[in-house]
Amino acid sequence: MYQNRQASFAVKSPFHAVASLNAIAPAQAITPLPALAPLRVGMLGLGTVGIGTYTVLQRNAEVIAARTGRCMEITMVAVRNLQRAADLVEDDVELVDDPFLVVNHPDIDVVVEVIGGTTIARDLVLRAIANGKHVVTANKALLAVHGGEIFAAAQARGVVVAYEGAVAVSIPIIKALREGLTANRIEWIVGIINGTTNYILSEMKDQGVSFADALADAQRKGYAEADPAFDVEGVDAAHKLTLLASNAFGVPIQFDKVHVEGITQLDSVDIAFAERLGYRVKLLGIAKRNAQGLELRVHPTLVAADHLLAQVNGSMNAVMVKSDAAGVTMYYGAGAGSEQTASAVIADLVDLARSCGVVHRHRVPSLAFQHSAIVELPVVAIGDVETAYYLRLDVASVSRTLPKVLGHLADAGVRVQQVEVLEHPHDAELKAVIVLTERTQQCLLRAAIAHLEQLPTVMGFAKTIRMERLT
Ligand code: HSE
Repeated sequence: MYQNRQASFAVKSPFHAVASLNAIAPAQAITPLPALAPLRVGMLGLGTVGIGTYTVLQRNAEVIAARTGRCMEITMVAVRNLQRAADLVEDDVELVDDPFLVVNHPDIDVVVEVIGGTTIARDLVLRAIANGKHVVTANKALLAVHGGEIFAAAQARGVVVAYEGAVAVSIPIIKALREGLTANRIEWIVGIINGTTNYILSEMKDQGVSFADALADAQRKGYAEADPAFDVEGVDAAHKLTLLASNAFGVPIQFDKVHVEGITQLDSVDIAFAERLGYRVKLLGIAKRNAQGLELRVHPTLVAADHLLAQVNGSMNAVMVKSDAAGVTMYYGAGAGSEQTASAVIADLVDLARSCGVVHRHRVPSLAFQHSAIVELPVVAIGDVETAYYLRLDVASVSRTLPKVLGHLADAGVRVQQVEVLEHPHDAELKAVIVLTERTQQCLLRAAIAHLEQLPTVMGFAKTIRMERLT
């Protein structure tokens, strides 16, 4: 089905918008520039992000045109269900059920990919690029898995692939890294970059609800991915970290090298104990440069309860960057949501509308570094990464166990920062021995734990969570 409907938002001329906004200022002669043709946008998908993009573009057409100096028109949208989509958009939008009609259409300047997934989305994006179209996408999985191929194709064809909506949606972190911090050498970037898991951890701590109930609630609120395993297993955060790391360090897209641990193995007992000791558990994405190379890791982490990242609750996201000139900077905002993602998608469209006609090599590079300057850094094996640790052992006798615990840790070269003995919430016969270690390699701690778990007075397995200081 190929309906011939043309979209054109309320503002027909950007100069009408500029004039109306300026009408409130004292009269001043403005010499109008020659009008630019509208940017013609084809959209793939009309789900949560697609409808948000359409809605915000319509509602804010005037102010967007005033800022851009140019109109934007969503002229075509590819959808699965034409009937349903017809109820969601105005009659002047051409609805098609074959997405290739959009990416092949000669009158489309920019393709917005919000279809999701990594198979058909990859084919569509590569076809759009081959056809000389710019692409805006919020699809972090696509770029984390196929970004190497997609960015190389875009570079060769001289088009842009923009993706602000793919990372920490409402936070303009890609722009901050690519432009605001461009003078800096970045030391580390650390983020709460998955709203679903942050919501779950916040609810478990504040409301004492179970993991399953908190997840169901996050799904109802629309934060979770189609497959929530991507959220709770840390994969979604790893997708986003992959993009952040490339922008921060000028390394290739290398999702397969990220160490990924989610929150499914977290015990609410440890969340409560951490709180008592003055810490909060957050799922952090961490990319850090050190003498060995680059650390790329996603895992639950204890941060001090008075640290700024510990104040980021619910589905909110935050990214902290340490760089040599600017120092530590932090960015906070909604991590999921329809209009929140739309805000980022439209910002990318505005950038494109403003830069049409610019010679490609004069554009801000897609991954912050010139394509030819992107170089590999060795990724540090997770066993060699140094962090402090929270260690919990459930013990039947503190007096018989604690000296051995300290002995085995010392033998392995693990230094101890603090030891606490707490009542076990589920078993009156047991005590929980909590050890906070100094920074150590995981392999050293594992060696000690192998001995500790053999002790007859230690029940079950040791629980460990990494700790970060982040200053
Ligand atoms: N599922 C994602 C999250 C959505 O919870 O952060 C935004 O990427």
